[in-house]
Amino acid sequence: MLEESASLPLLRREKWLQKRIMAGGGFVAAAGLPDGDYGGRITLAVVITCIVAASGGLIFGYDIGISGGVTTMVPFLQKFFPSILKKAGDAKTNMYCVYDSQLLTSFTSSLYIAGLIASVVAGRVTATSGRKFTMVLGGCTFFLGALINGASVNIAMLIIGRLLLGFGVGFTNQATPVYLSEVAPPKWRGAFNTGFQFFIGIGVVIANCINYATSKKPWGWRLSLGLAAVPAVVMTVGALFIPDTPNSLVSRGKVEEAKQSLVKARGEANVDAELSELIKASEMAKSVGEEPFMSIFKRRYRPQLVIGILIPFFQQVTGINVIAFYAPVLFTSVGFGSDSALIAAIILGLVNLGSNLVSIFLVDRFGRRVLFLQGGVQMFICQVAVAGILAATIGMSGTGQMSKGSAILVLVLMCLYAAGFGWSWGPLTWLVPSEIYPLKIRAAGLSISIAVNFGTTFVVSQTFLAMLCKFRFTAFLFYSAWIAIMTIFVALFVPETKGIPLDSMHRVWKQHKYWNKFVNNEPL
Ligand code: BGC
Repeated sequence: MLEESASLPLLRREKWLQKRIMAGGGFVAAAGLPDGDYGGRITLAVVITCIVAASGGLIFGYDIGISGGVTTMVPFLQKFFPSILKKAGDAKTNMYCVYDSQLLTSFTSSLYIAGLIASVVAGRVTATSGRKFTMVLGGCTFFLGALINGASVNIAMLIIGRLLLGFGVGFTNQATPVYLSEVAPPKWRGAFNTGFQFFIGIGVVIANCINYATSKKPWGWRLSLGLAAVPAVVMTVGALFIPDTPNSLVSRGKVEEAKQSLVKARGEANVDAELSELIKASEMAKSVGEEPFMSIFKRRYRPQLVIGILIPFFQQVTGINVIAFYAPVLFTSVGFGSDSALIAAIILGLVNLGSNLVSIFLVDRFGRRVLFLQGGVQMFICQVAVAGILAATIGMSGTGQMSKGSAILVLVLMCLYAAGFGWSWGPLTWLVPSEIYPLKIRAAGLSISIAVNFGTTFVVSQTFLAMLCKFRFTAFLFYSAWIAIMTIFVALFVPETKGIPLDSMHRVWKQHKYWNKFVNNEPL
């Protein structure tokens, strides 16, 4: 059957793909169609492998959740940032400004600068040493960072630890999404890849619960920071036991290992057709002999590059990290007690996690575009409504009081916002870049996407508390304007990629009414 599908006349496959692409950017179900999908059954081996790989998201999520909570813990602030406590104790302090400290934000955001640097290096490492090796390297570096953070006695140790954590997530966030997209059967690539965001969500929730449990203890922050070593061990040990992706093995000349990896992933003894496609793609990539980081800037890769840069940028200007990092700080700032603020953060995390599950079920059925568009509209409405409530209660002066009812309403709106993010921009930001680049420039492209993601996260996290202090509730309107822009961008410029095998992806650009002029008459 495999040979049969591979040997289908090229014209028929081409026509079939064209038909799918023409379906208004939305694809019909892939089942039973000759799509170069070479027997994409979901096997137990591929499920386990992908779960292990997706656990790379755990360390990232754990850090996101932990840093937000730790920065509201009194003993932690007493030791490292006493000026913030003084400010909070001052009754006259504007509620929007309590946590506006450049030093405190640099604690949170230093990780992202390190991540940015690491993700660029990671592009080369994944290309030359494989996806698996890069994940293991990331896990070990993160582990070291966690130990240093837990043992910190001064700010320098705190920042060094965070830089190491940043290097760690820089490596794993680059390698894991590629790993998942390359190993998953094309028909279910969206669901498998969404596993990464799901594990980020699990990490966030675990971290929030740990923060809640440790927040009362004077050494609680040490435990919170040090326990990051646990997810690091889980993912690193797991990664040691999974095979590298067939694509990566082939491009590094390990054809026999690639075959074994394919046999495992596909649950088929005969994988020759798919293997020979991979070898062909890899040989074509090599024959061009260009440096991937150079060729990616060629005109013919403009669609991938623009989308690969804008999607992670847009993800961050949804304002999600304002909510994710600063949920406890934010809720305290707008009138929740510090305990209830941590509970609110846990609730938000759970909602986000639940919505990732929704995405897992929908992303390969309805496609990426529907989720992007629906999620965007939902998030836009929620941000505008939160701004409206803050305006009506705390007001521009920031000294007004928020009633319990309004505080609950803010929480509900933030939950709806987190749900919208959790089934759209959250997972799709990892999925879409990992599937649009051709093999030759995939590692380089992913590096750029992840670097943009970290760079923008850095800017957003570094500026948000100052923005909240200066612009008050209008800070939320700023993000809602971005959400409107990105939703329009998706509607016009992001083609549907659902169910398309990675090595046939170039055709979506040829069929797109704007992008086709960049790729027509260009070699593939
Ligand atoms: C984003 C992070 C964010 C997280 C929240 C990820 O996809 O890249 O910046 O904090 O989702 O769950």
